[in-house]
Amino acid sequence: MSEFRLTQISDTHLGRRFPGLIANFHRVGEHIDASRPDLVVNTGDVSFNGPTSRDDVEFAKSLHDALPVACRYLPGNHDIGDNPTAIGPAPTPPVAEPHRRQFCTLIGEDHWSFEAAGWCFIGLNSLVMNSGLAFEAEQFDWLASEISRANGRPVALFLHKPLFLNLPDDPETPETSIRYVPQPARARLVEMFSRVDLRLIASGHVHQRRDFTFRHTRHIWAPSAGFVINDEHQDRVAIKETGLVEYHFQPDSLEVRHVRAPGQVDVDIEELLAQMGAH
Ligand SMILES: [Fe+2]
Ligand SMILES: [Fe+2]
Repeated sequence: MSEFRLTQISDTHLGRRFPGLIANFHRVGEHIDASRPDLVVNTGDVSFNGPTSRDDVEFAKSLHDALPVACRYLPGNHDIGDNPTAIGPAPTPPVAEPHRRQFCTLIGEDHWSFEAAGWCFIGLNSLVMNSGLAFEAEQFDWLASEISRANGRPVALFLHKPLFLNLPDDPETPETSIRYVPQPARARLVEMFSRVDLRLIASGHVHQRRDFTFRHTRHIWAPSAGFVINDEHQDRVAIKETGLVEYHFQPDSLEVRHVRAPGQVDVDIEELLAQMGAH
C-alpha cells in the first residue's frame, strides 16, 4: 500500500445519558462513512466514565462497532484513570490495573504498532506513565523494541495526552501537570524517540485543536468529537471547537486536514454538567 488514510477522533466521552455527545458521534460516523479512510483511531476518553461505569465503556464500543471502518483505540483518563504527577494534587481516580484490563477486554489493545505506506505507527497508553504499575515498565520495554525496528522509516506516534505545551522541558505547574505527559516519563519518551525519525505526534485530551511543528515533528492536538470546555473551566491555548483530523500518509510525506463533520455542534461542558446533576 503506497498511501494510507487515517482519521483521528478523540474524546468522544460516550455514555447513554448524554444525547448531545451521541448525536455528535453519529455526525462523525456519517462523515467517516462518506470519506471511508483506511483506519479510524480514537485517541482516548472513548467513554464518559470507565472507572465507575462499565456500561459507558460497553456503550462506547457498540457505537464504534457500528462504524463501517476498522478502529484502533487508546485509553484516556476517563477510561482508565489518570497519571500521578510529582507536583499536582493526586488525580481522581488514579490509573489502576483493573480499569486498564476493563478497557483492553471491552474496547481493545491499549498500545499497538503497525506499518503502512512506509511509515511506522505506534500507539501508547500515556496514563500508566509514572504510575509504578507493572504494565508501565512492560510498555517501555515493548516501546524500546519497536523503536529499534523502525530502521530509518518515518514514525507517527499516537497517545491521549500531548507530550508538552511548547517545549520538551517546559516546567510543570500544579494547574497543568495532568494536561501533558508528566515528568520524568516525558523526558524518557523524548530521549527514546530521538533515535528515530519522529514526524508526527497526534494527541487528544485537551479538547482544543492545535497544529504546530517543533524541530521536524508535527504536533497535532485533535479536538474532542463531543464537547468543548469553556474559558471559565479551562484556559484557552488553541481552538475550542468539536471536530476531527484526517491524515494522508505516503512514503516520506504527510498531509493533515482539520475537519468538522457536517452537523457536528459545539456542545458546551455546562450542558453535560447539568445532565450529570439531573441524574
Ligand atoms: Fe477528554
Ligand atoms: Fe482526557
